[in-house]
Amino acid sequence: MPYDLVIVANRLPVDRVELADGTKGWRTSPGGLVTAIEPVMRANHGIWIGWPGGTDSDLEPFESDGLELAPMSMSAQEIEEFYEGFSNATLWPLYHDLVAKPEFHREWWDSYVQVNQRFAERAAELAAEGATVWVHDYQLQLVPQMLRTLRPDLRIGFYLHIPFPPAELFQQLPWRRQILEGLLGADLVGFQLAGAAQNFVRLVRQRVGHKTHRDLVYLPDGRTVRAAPFPISIDARGFEEMARSESVVARAAELREALGNPRKVFLGVDRLDYTKGIYARLRAFAELMGEGHIDVEDAVFVQVAAPSREQVEQYRLLRDEIERLVGRINGDHGRIGRPAIHYLHSSYPREEMAAMYAAADVMVVTPYRDGMNLVAKEYVACRYQDDGALVLSEFAGAADELRQAWLVNPHDINGMKSALLEAYQADEKEVTRRMRAMRKQVTQHDVQAWAASFMTGLSDAGVHDKDVRTPGA
Ligand code: G6P
Repeated sequence: MPYDLVIVANRLPVDRVELADGTKGWRTSPGGLVTAIEPVMRANHGIWIGWPGGTDSDLEPFESDGLELAPMSMSAQEIEEFYEGFSNATLWPLYHDLVAKPEFHREWWDSYVQVNQRFAERAAELAAEGATVWVHDYQLQLVPQMLRTLRPDLRIGFYLHIPFPPAELFQQLPWRRQILEGLLGADLVGFQLAGAAQNFVRLVRQRVGHKTHRDLVYLPDGRTVRAAPFPISIDARGFEEMARSESVVARAAELREALGNPRKVFLGVDRLDYTKGIYARLRAFAELMGEGHIDVEDAVFVQVAAPSREQVEQYRLLRDEIERLVGRINGDHGRIGRPAIHYLHSSYPREEMAAMYAAADVMVVTPYRDGMNLVAKEYVACRYQDDGALVLSEFAGAADELRQAWLVNPHDINGMKSALLEAYQADEKEVTRRMRAMRKQVTQHDVQAWAASFMTGLSDAGVHDKDVRTPGA
């Protein structure tokens, strides 16, 4: 049955997992995208195409929680070359300011092309005449153009969930022109920040040679492509309701109790990723303890590090480094029953996260580069009593909106130490003033507003197609 809306993302909102009894089942994959997309899917008779993790093949489309899902299979070699390789060892570090060194391998690129082609073909099969297709993220940047070739009748949107780098970095990529041309298959290309959209338009002008004017690209075939920012957000109301629920309030108290009821709880929540600045923040905290500014009897740091991309070498090395550091800090500063750092290598359901946010006095988010960082917004959404301090990296997209956080440069350990200490010692009035302003921002710009504004942008995009006038023409 053809669909009026097709969502194409590398991951499905559910993962295929092995259950305790050895049979296979589905588990909601963590991540906020599904709450964002769900209302749009329901309103539009939509289907979601994506990979459920693993190497299962021949999985049929199915329904989960009222959403129609079409699983894509991936071979072990594609997982290695397309997913771990080109997506996460080439593009991921390249798009995050070379925090790690990107690797360029021609076989990985071939696999990227092949998998993108398969996703495009599947979308072409499932889309109704004139349907809207919304493609997501860096794993699938060739899909828009491939899909347009197969189905010129479609309206195609693309959204990049991670940063888009400046030309100086992007041009290292041997396949830079193909990626730009791939994205130009869309009618609307959405980014987190205005700067990213500008980077893209500038690159298109320089590398592909198309005419551009502000946020528009004029293609020789008469189409126009718009590149614009749509800062993503979270289900703010959902998080607040959860934080207010009796069970979460009780769980938050239980967590503090289990931590030994310290005066202040610091919290970090990240995928275990080298872009997140986990090492530097723990070091800053440890130095504050070493210098006597923070006492282990008064404060504790809880660091949740969700396992991620564990087959990729850089991620394995990072895990070893962080775990060594945590061991050293606890050895140096901990006492019996009072470790300085509670380190959890695990991911948790949303309710447990809400309880952790509710239990934390100082939330520490210090990435070297991050498209948005939804953890920062989730923390704010959960602090319905207008308390809690947020220490936030200037290099997270969220810093553009959450100006009242204690903003830090994660490369500057001394600066980070001062900010942590200020946030730790800030008086209630100051904390409330800042949190109130941030809460206003997050509740007024939630994920539902984000999805609606992208969809409106997409239905307006391409209206100049007929009777196109390029500037100066
Ligand atoms: C980031 C990316 C997503 C990705 C997620 C988890 O948020 O923007 O596209 O799905 O990380 O990473 P994984 O590799 O497990 O899908």
